[in-house]
Amino acid sequence: MMERICPSATKRTFCAETPAPPGGFIVFGASGDLSQKKIIPAIANLFNRGLLENGFYFLGCGRSEMSDDDMRQMASDAAEGILEDKTEFLKHFYYTTGDYSSSDLYYKIKEKLAQIEKLHSKPMGRVFYFSLPPMLYAEGAENLGKAGLNKNGDKFVRLVVEKPFGNDLESATKLNDHLYKWFNENQIYRIDHYLGKDTVQNILMFRFANTIFEPIWNRNYIDNVQITIAESIGIESRGSYYDQSGAIRDMFVNHMLSMLSLVTMEPPASFDTERIRDEKNKVLRSIRPYNLEPTSGDVVRGQYTAGKIKDKDTLAYRDEKNVDKNSNTETFVAARLFIDNWRWRDVPFYLRTGKRLAKRVTEIAITFKKVPHLMFESMGIGELPANVLILKIQPMEGMKLFFEAKSPGTKLCMGTLQMDFNYAEVFGGENPDAYQRLLLDCLDGDQTLFMRIDDVKVAWGLVDKLLKDWKAGNSPPYIYTAGSDSFNQADNLIQKDGRCWRIIAEM
Ligand code: BG6
Repeated sequence: MMERICPSATKRTFCAETPAPPGGFIVFGASGDLSQKKIIPAIANLFNRGLLENGFYFLGCGRSEMSDDDMRQMASDAAEGILEDKTEFLKHFYYTTGDYSSSDLYYKIKEKLAQIEKLHSKPMGRVFYFSLPPMLYAEGAENLGKAGLNKNGDKFVRLVVEKPFGNDLESATKLNDHLYKWFNENQIYRIDHYLGKDTVQNILMFRFANTIFEPIWNRNYIDNVQITIAESIGIESRGSYYDQSGAIRDMFVNHMLSMLSLVTMEPPASFDTERIRDEKNKVLRSIRPYNLEPTSGDVVRGQYTAGKIKDKDTLAYRDEKNVDKNSNTETFVAARLFIDNWRWRDVPFYLRTGKRLAKRVTEIAITFKKVPHLMFESMGIGELPANVLILKIQPMEGMKLFFEAKSPGTKLCMGTLQMDFNYAEVFGGENPDAYQRLLLDCLDGDQTLFMRIDDVKVAWGLVDKLLKDWKAGNSPPYIYTAGSDSFNQADNLIQKDGRCWRIIAEM
């Protein structure tokens, strides 16, 4: 019988995923929220999926006086509901107490690592994870370096730092220069957890694994792009951090610009870390700086006042714990941007993010240009809506395409239809949390989904004048009611171009 050379066009899945090389996570701030809610559950999931079968350990470090057994109890709580039998998993957890600023802690860690790796009877790579307040990063890296922990024979040593990486261009540059004294760029993993989301990675897969969209992915066919990250939560217990940060530092310079770069970058020649990062950086550098300057009128910021979310009364931002009563920190920011290159010249990108909005939803909406000629006009059909492609990042992960088609029945009857793909319906279950992918990549030495320093600098550079202007007390935020969809000034930003925001409550 002849071999079949025409494969079925349906249902093919390629997965490239192999167990990580042996390695340990040394987590500073191990008893904190991030470790409990994200890092340990992600490690438990990786363990469950067999991806840590080559060997791993978790050494928690922190100021709290705790034993290995206390750490194991903590890990057990964090892994609840993920592993049926946690006995084997918990054997990999250890703890060391100490003060982050004292060199003693780092020598204790060194000793403990030697013991742990002896128990595992093999030398292993090491991932130092700073789940710490950012002002401790520089000192922590220096102490690691001075204790000789930035080297590990022929095994890897990596340093993971959470955002925010600096507070502005100057501080980010300074911090980086300091880290470079002890670690090189290939060792530094700057987290932007949005890049670990499946749906965010799908942006590149979708664009560059299909032929049908890429030819029209440009100024000739795309009218505008809207990127929304709406949250219904407020600042929760993070008042002291958030009040110094605001939406522009917390979400805009990292998550929003990362998504923008993936939607707009040129195809790299290969799916190779540095090629992808080069293209991302190139497009970030093509963003027209003027629109983010204080005088452009293209940035609007807001702050929530008291309101209702899901019928529950919520506080005004200024009444939240650890927030200055007269704070001018923004909890919402919207901007209109342009990218000055051949592909995107004159296409507006509308970006917005905010807390205490009508609901939690993140999506990228690509609106195509309207048809060039209306041949149905004589039949009484006026202007047709444009096609819109929605990349649904969360919480209902998927994609949706709005298009026009004939409706059944009378002679000429037309309507807007939707082609809707939902990950959950097709693949079942939930998408893995971003941290699973990111932690696996740290062990694998894959930096594709981490921020390279030039990206960080370009992003801070774009908002530098704005940050200085706001710091000087200019353009205080407009007030919006918690639970609302938008507010006038944010609407004007897009309506002045004859366009509208997508309605958050309906997204
Ligand atoms: C974090 C911000 O980076 O992202 C938070 O600091 C925000 O303020 C969070 O709530 C949103 O992440 P996600 O994955 O829930 O959209």
